[in-house]
Amino acid sequence: MRFDLKVNNVLREVDVPPDMPVLWVLRDILGLTGTKYGCGVAQCGACTVHLDGQPVRACLLTVAAAAGHDILTIEAIEHTETGAKVQQAWLDEEVIQCGYCQSGQIMAATALLQQIPQPTDADIDEAMAGNICRCGTYVRIRKAIHKAASHEA
Ligand code: FES
Ligand code: FES
Repeated sequence: MRFDLKVNNVLREVDVPPDMPVLWVLRDILGLTGTKYGCGVAQCGACTVHLDGQPVRACLLTVAAAAGHDILTIEAIEHTETGAKVQQAWLDEEVIQCGYCQSGQIMAATALLQQIPQPTDADIDEAMAGNICRCGTYVRIRKAIHKAASHEA
């Protein structure tokens, strides 16, 4: 079936089964490989993208459900004001270790700061709980979110 997907502000027509996960469309059809496959069952957060500004798991989101909505991926997050601040804070705090989970972490952190510009530690822990990092970068993630938040003020 043909679907019009709006990805990073560009309309893309794809011809795929309606139940194909958006993660597959992004990576295998559109070549946007910044969004990662971790678990495939909404348990790790590696595949986090924004759907109409909300963080969602692209591994479970079907193309049929996403059609007509705004999808934003890590490739374009720097073009949002908050996303640019988050990415800079990530670099300043040297958050990244192996990097595999980090696209999802940055997408989740950006969504958090867009909703709560000055989050508490509890807000951060709650918003980021679904994003797993095998390298244990959680302390640096929290520090970077606070740093990005200080630039939001
Ligand atoms: S790959 Fe989607 S949550 Fe793990
Ligand atoms: S940086 Fe390696 S899994 Fe998070």
